[in-house]
Amino acid sequence: MMTGIPQPAFYIFKCQQSAPPGMPKPSCVSQHNPESAQLFQHLAQTLMQKGIIATVQPIQTSCLNRCQQGPVMLVEPGHTMYVGLTKEKIDRIIDEHIIGGNIVSEYVIPEQVWGEPIAPSAMVR
Ligand code: FES
Repeated sequence: MMTGIPQPAFYIFKCQQSAPPGMPKPSCVSQHNPESAQLFQHLAQTLMQKGIIATVQPIQTSCLNRCQQGPVMLVEPGHTMYVGLTKEKIDRIIDEHIIGGNIVSEYVIPEQVWGEPIAPSAMVR
Protein backbone atom coordinates (compact mmCIF):
# COMPACT_ATOMS: atom_id res chain seq x y z
CA MET A 1 0.00 0.00 0.00
CA MET A 2 1.27 3.49 -0.82
CA THR A 3 1.59 5.88 2.09
CA GLY A 4 1.12 9.53 1.29
CA ILE A 5 2.87 12.57 2.68
CA PRO A 6 0.86 13.60 5.77
CA GLN A 7 -1.08 16.83 5.47
CA PRO A 8 -0.25 19.61 7.97
CA ALA A 9 -2.21 19.59 11.25
CA PHE A 10 -2.37 23.41 11.23
CA TYR A 11 -1.78 26.37 8.97
CA ILE A 12 -1.04 29.65 10.73
CA PHE A 13 -1.67 32.71 8.56
CA LYS A 14 0.28 35.66 9.96
CA CYS A 15 -0.63 39.05 8.53
CA GLN A 16 2.56 40.73 7.32
CA GLN A 17 0.97 43.86 5.88
CA SER A 18 2.81 47.09 6.63
CA ALA A 19 1.60 50.59 5.88
CA PRO A 20 4.03 53.10 4.39
CA PRO A 21 5.48 55.60 6.93
CA GLY A 22 3.07 58.43 7.65
CA MET A 23 0.03 56.42 6.63
CA PRO A 24 -2.65 56.86 9.32
CA LYS A 25 -4.24 53.43 8.80
CA PRO A 26 -3.08 50.83 11.36
CA SER A 27 -1.25 47.77 10.06
CA CYS A 28 0.02 44.50 11.51
CA VAL A 29 3.66 45.33 10.85
CA SER A 30 4.12 48.89 12.02
CA GLN A 31 7.02 51.25 12.65
CA HIS A 32 5.19 52.28 15.84
CA ASN A 33 5.55 48.73 17.17
CA PRO A 34 9.13 47.49 16.58
CA GLU A 35 8.30 43.98 17.85
CA SER A 36 5.67 43.63 15.12
CA ALA A 37 8.36 43.18 12.42
CA GLN A 38 9.85 40.21 14.30
CA LEU A 39 6.71 38.21 14.97
CA PHE A 40 6.66 36.02 11.85
CA GLN A 41 10.28 35.02 12.33
CA HIS A 42 9.61 34.35 15.99
CA LEU A 43 6.65 32.15 15.07
CA ALA A 44 8.60 30.16 12.47
CA GLN A 45 11.67 29.79 14.70
CA THR A 46 9.67 28.62 17.69
CA LEU A 47 7.86 26.01 15.57
CA MET A 48 11.26 24.87 14.32
CA GLN A 49 12.83 24.73 17.80
CA LYS A 50 9.94 22.63 19.02
CA GLY A 51 10.33 20.28 16.04
CA ILE A 52 6.77 20.78 14.78
CA ILE A 53 7.33 22.94 11.69
CA ALA A 54 6.61 20.00 9.38
CA THR A 55 3.10 19.57 10.69
CA VAL A 56 2.43 23.26 11.42
CA GLN A 57 2.84 25.56 8.43
CA PRO A 58 3.37 29.28 9.10
CA ILE A 59 2.19 31.34 6.13
CA GLN A 60 2.83 35.06 5.54
CA THR A 61 -0.26 36.82 4.25
CA SER A 62 -1.30 40.32 3.34
CA CYS A 63 -4.16 42.13 5.10
CA LEU A 64 -6.77 39.92 6.80
CA ASN A 65 -9.15 42.87 7.25
CA ARG A 66 -8.88 43.25 11.00
CA CYS A 67 -6.16 45.90 11.00
CA GLN A 68 -7.49 47.71 14.11
CA GLN A 69 -6.82 44.55 16.12
CA GLY A 70 -3.33 43.94 14.74
CA PRO A 71 -0.91 42.28 14.81
CA VAL A 72 -3.19 39.36 13.95
CA MET A 73 -2.89 35.74 12.82
CA LEU A 74 -5.47 33.14 11.84
CA VAL A 75 -5.14 29.50 12.88
CA GLU A 76 -6.70 26.88 10.61
CA PRO A 77 -8.46 24.56 11.04
CA GLY A 78 -10.75 26.19 13.56
CA HIS A 79 -10.91 29.67 12.04
CA THR A 80 -9.35 31.12 15.21
CA MET A 81 -8.28 34.75 14.85
CA TYR A 82 -5.70 35.90 17.41
CA VAL A 83 -5.17 39.62 17.91
CA GLY A 84 -2.82 42.11 19.59
CA LEU A 85 0.05 39.65 19.21
CA THR A 86 3.43 39.76 20.93
CA LYS A 87 6.20 37.15 21.06
CA GLU A 88 4.97 36.06 24.47
CA LYS A 89 1.42 35.58 23.22
CA ILE A 90 2.66 33.57 20.24
CA ASP A 91 4.59 31.29 22.63
CA ARG A 92 1.45 30.64 24.66
CA ILE A 93 -0.65 30.01 21.53
CA ILE A 94 1.89 27.44 20.30
CA ASP A 95 2.08 25.66 23.67
CA GLU A 96 -1.57 25.77 24.65
CA HIS A 97 -3.48 25.73 21.35
CA ILE A 98 -1.22 24.14 18.72
CA ILE A 99 0.39 21.56 21.02
CA GLY A 100 -2.08 21.42 23.90
CA GLY A 101 -5.31 21.64 21.90
CA ASN A 102 -6.85 24.44 23.97
CA ILE A 103 -7.66 27.80 22.38
CA VAL A 104 -6.16 30.75 24.30
CA SER A 105 -9.43 32.63 24.60
CA GLU A 106 -7.92 35.82 26.11
CA TYR A 107 -6.15 36.51 22.81
CA VAL A 108 -9.03 35.64 20.48
CA ILE A 109 -10.66 38.50 18.55
CA PRO A 110 -13.77 39.99 20.28
CA GLU A 111 -17.08 38.71 18.92
CA GLN A 112 -18.33 42.17 17.92
CA VAL A 113 -15.61 42.39 15.26
CA TRP A 114 -15.73 38.70 14.28
CA GLY A 115 -19.39 37.82 13.72
CA GLU A 116 -20.70 34.63 12.19
CA PRO A 117 -19.69 34.17 8.54
CA ILE A 118 -22.26 34.78 5.79
CA ALA A 119 -22.71 31.73 3.58
CA PRO A 120 -21.54 32.44 0.02
CA SER A 121 -24.74 30.76 -1.20
CA ALA A 122 -26.72 33.55 0.55
CA MET A 123 -24.72 36.27 -1.26
CA VAL A 124 -24.24 34.86 -4.72
CA ARG A 125 -25.90 36.82 -7.57
S1 FES B 1 -2.91 44.91 8.14
FE1 FES B 1 -3.10 43.01 9.19
S2 FES B 1 -5.22 42.71 9.18
FE2 FES B 1 -4.99 44.46 7.96
